Amino acid sequence: MAEKRGEIPPEVLERVKKLRQEIEYHNYRYYVLDSPVISDAEYDALLRELKELEEKYPELVTPDSPTQRVGFAPAKEFGQVRHAEPMLSLDDAFKEEEVIEFDRRIKRFLGLPEEALLEYTVEPKMDGLAVELVYEDGVLTVGSTRGDGYVGEDVTNNLKTIKSIPLRLFRHQGLPIPKRLDARGEVFMEKEKFKKLNEERLARGEPPFANPRNAAAGSLRQLDPNVTARRPLDIFFYGVGRVEGYTFKTQWEILTTLPKWGLKTNPYCRLVKGIKEAIAYHHEMEKRREELPYEVDGIVIKVNDLSLWEKLGTKARSPRYALAYKFEPTQVTTQVLDIVVQVGRTGAVTPVAVLKPVKVGGVIVSRATLHNEDEIRRKDIRIGDWVLVQRAGDVIPEVVMPIKDRRTGKERPFEMPRTCPVCGSQLVRKPGEAVWRCPNKNCYAQLVRHLQHFASRNAMDIEGLGEKVARALVDAGLVRDVADLYYLKVEDLLQLPGFALKKAQNLYNAIQKSKKTTLARFLYALGIRHVGEVVAQILAEHFKSLDKLQKATVADLMSIPGIGPEVAQSIVEFFRNPRNQRTLEKLIKAGITFEDVKEGEEAEEKPLKGLTFVFTGALKSMTREEAKKRVQALGGKVASDVSRRVDIVVVGDKPGSKFQRAQRLGLKIIGEEEFLRLIGAR
Ligand code: IVH
Repeated sequence: MAEKRGEIPPEVLERVKKLRQEIEYHNYRYYVLDSPVISDAEYDALLRELKELEEKYPELVTPDSPTQRVGFAPAKEFGQVRHAEPMLSLDDAFKEEEVIEFDRRIKRFLGLPEEALLEYTVEPKMDGLAVELVYEDGVLTVGSTRGDGYVGEDVTNNLKTIKSIPLRLFRHQGLPIPKRLDARGEVFMEKEKFKKLNEERLARGEPPFANPRNAAAGSLRQLDPNVTARRPLDIFFYGVGRVEGYTFKTQWEILTTLPKWGLKTNPYCRLVKGIKEAIAYHHEMEKRREELPYEVDGIVIKVNDLSLWEKLGTKARSPRYALAYKFEPTQVTTQVLDIVVQVGRTGAVTPVAVLKPVKVGGVIVSRATLHNEDEIRRKDIRIGDWVLVQRAGDVIPEVVMPIKDRRTGKERPFEMPRTCPVCGSQLVRKPGEAVWRCPNKNCYAQLVRHLQHFASRNAMDIEGLGEKVARALVDAGLVRDVADLYYLKVEDLLQLPGFALKKAQNLYNAIQKSKKTTLARFLYALGIRHVGEVVAQILAEHFKSLDKLQKATVADLMSIPGIGPEVAQSIVEFFRNPRNQRTLEKLIKAGITFEDVKEGEEAEEKPLKGLTFVFTGALKSMTREEAKKRVQALGGKVASDVSRRVDIVVVGDKPGSKFQRAQRLGLKIIGEEEFLRLIGAR
C-alpha cells in the first residue's frame, strides 16, 4: 500500500525533485541540442531511480514528471506534426530475469498457463532516431520525428533526402497499397560513415558528434535540407502507426510486408517461439554486434499477435507487449585523473588517459588511449576533464571527447614530454608525422626483456609472465618498470588482450606470491650487469640484507671471494642510479620480503655447508643448472673453475680440461652416481 503524502520522508521529496531537474536538463541536451553530457547508461540509471521512487510513492507522480514523457517537445524551429497514434517508447531490461518476468507477466495478464510458449518477433534495436512517415495513397506526404510521442517535428524535406526512403510505395504483385500508412522506423548512420564525418568535422575545427546516434539526430534535425542531404543517413522500418485500407494480424506480417512496398526492415529480424529463444537471439546478436556496420544497443522483443496488443494495453510511456533487452553500454562518462605516456614496440610514445575506473562494454576500464599529441589538442582533452569513453569488443578503450560543459576551470592542458619515460632518450618527431618516437631501439625491447627476466623461474618466479604477457603489459602502458607489476590490480589485467577474469586472477596471484622470495633470487632478478645467480648467491650470503649491500663500496665488494673489480663496479653503479633507487624503493614498498637462511643452527645443519663444487662434462639425470641449485640448496657453493679452494669435482660425460687440472691438483673427483648419493637423490 502506498503511504500517505505526509509520510513521505523529506529526503525522498528532495531526491525526486533533484532527479526531475537533472533528467529534464539531460532531455534537453539530448533531444534539443543533440549533445548529451552524460551517457545513455547514466541517463537510464537516473530515470530508473525516479521510476522506482514513484512506484514506491505513487502520489508523487505528476503529469509533467519525466517518467510520463517519451521524448521532448518539438523544437520551435520546425513545424509540428501530431502523430495519429502516439509513438510510445519501450521499457528497458538489462538482465535475463527481467526478460523472463516480462514473459510471465504477459501470460498472467492473458490468463495463459505458465508453460505456454508465446510467439515473439525479435529485432535488433537500432541506435538512431525514431521517425514516422505518412504515406497517403502510396505517396509520402509528411515525415516527422518522435518529439514528445504525441507531437513531433516536421522534417519531411530532410527525410526525403534519405535515399532508402521511397517517395512513393512500390507496387508488389497482388499487394494493395493502403489508403494511409504511417510507417515507423529508425534513422541511423553507419559506423564507418560516422567516423569519416567526425574526422572532417575535427579537421574543420567543428565539435565532433559523440556517437552515430547523435550524428544521425543532428543531421536530420537541420533547418537546411541541403545539409541533411550531404549526411550519409539510412533507415530501417520496424512498425506502423495508423493504417487505413489494410489490416495486419501480426508483427511478423508487418516486418515482411513493409519491404514489399519498398520500406526496408532489418534483415536480422526473426520470429521465435517462447522467451528462451528470444534470450538466445539476444546473445547471438550481442556476439555479432561488433561486425554489424551500424550500432545496435539491444534487441526488441514484441508479442507477435497484434490482437494481444490491445488486450495487454499500454502503461504511461510504454506498451506491455514489447520490451527492449539492452546490451552492455559501450560509452560512458568518467573523469581523466591524469595523462601519462607509454612506449610501444616501434618506439611510438602514446599519451594515455588515466581514468576514474568505470564499467564499459562489460569490463572495468581505468585507462584509455588518446592516440597522439595532435589528437589531444584537436579534441581539447585536459587533465581533470569529464570525458566520454568508449570501448567496443576487444578494441582498446578510447577517449571520444571532453564534455566541456562540465568544466570547472581547474582542468590542466597536457604537455607532451620531450624525453622517453622509460629510457630518458630525447624524443623525436618526423616532419609530417603525428607521433613522437623514442629513437633508442633498445628501449622498449629492454623493458620487455627485463620484465621477462625479472619474472623468470630462477628469479622472482612469476608464473604466466612470459614474453607475450610482458609485451602486452608494456603495450598497455601498465608497466614502466618492474616494480609496477606489484601495483597492478585484477581489473588492470582484464584490459590485456585475451585476459578474462580467471587468467587475470591467476596472474595477479602469481605476482603476489612472488613477493615472498629470497635475497639471492631478488638480486638476480634485478638484472644488475655481471650479477648472475652465483654472484647473487654470494652477495646474499655475505650481506644478508639489501640495505647493507646498497651501502657497500667497491672495496667492500672486492674483498669478497669470487667478486672481481668489474662486478664490484657494476653493483655500485646500479645502486647509485636514481632510477634504480626509485624502482627498489617501490619494490620494497610493495611488500617484497626475504626469507633468508637464518644465521646459526639452521645453517649449520646444511649437509654441504663449506664445500665448493665444480662440474665438468654433462650429467645424465639433470642439467648443470639444476645440479647447481641442488648444491646451493644444501648449503654448498659452486665455482666455475677448478682451484685449490675447490673441494669436489663432479665429472660427467665428455669432461673438459677441468678434469685433468683437477687430477693435477689432487682434488677429490666423483662421478654422477656418487654426486646423486651426496645430494640425497639416490
Ligand atoms: S518498437 C512501442 N522496434 O527504440 C514500441 N523500436 O524506446 C516502440 N527502436 O526510439 C518502438 N529499433 O525508435 C521498436 N526494432 C525496433 C526498434 C525500436 C530501435 C527505437 C525506437 C525508439 C526506442 C524505443
